[in-house]
Amino acid sequence: MKSLVVYYTRTGNARFAAETIAAEIGADVEEVIDMKNRSGKLAYLTGGADARRGKETEIAPTKKSPADYDLIIVGTPVWASRPAPAITTYLKKNNLSGKKVALFFTQGGKKPSAIDQTKALIPNSEFLGVLTLIEPLDNKAESEKQITEWCKTLNTN
Ligand SMILES: Cc1cc2nc3c(=O)[nH]c(=O)nc-3n(C[C@H](O)[C@H](O)[C@H](O)COP(=O)(O)O)c2cc1C
Repeated sequence: MKSLVVYYTRTGNARFAAETIAAEIGADVEEVIDMKNRSGKLAYLTGGADARRGKETEIAPTKKSPADYDLIIVGTPVWASRPAPAITTYLKKNNLSGKKVALFFTQGGKKPSAIDQTKALIPNSEFLGVLTLIEPLDNKAESEKQITEWCKTLNTN
């Protein structure tokens, strides 16, 4: 099965997760770049507000076509209990209909969130499952274990 891991990150947690997943299953990786400045305190506030409203943002052109893959794993930090705007934008721009899709989230809180809002953006995909990681850069060993177990459930061989 040909797999692609697509992610957005602001502070590296989702990148760590994406690269760990990709190494585990032998997937290609695509980082989605938000062209809006998301650093600093004000950007934190506007980022949360943008996410809460489901707003799209400008993203840099992506390099890989999901059409070339069987499985697309999409990862995002949780912002205001929603996916980050860059991932909302990616999912609106790219048609994942008929593809197997799995989601992962990195977040600060313990309670899984943003799942329904993100699933709503991939209505015609075959949904394989979801993984929620709590600040994986602060909990690398535990996160790697979670990722290994989760990847087994995706049956990528
Ligand atoms: C604008 C903003 C809003 C956030 N909202 C939430 C939230 O609602 N729930 C939560 O658990 N974490 C929230 N977080 C924390 C991030 O989801 C968490 O730090 C995540 O691991 C960051 O991933 P990254 O390093 O890949 O950017 C928020 C972070 C930002 C910047």
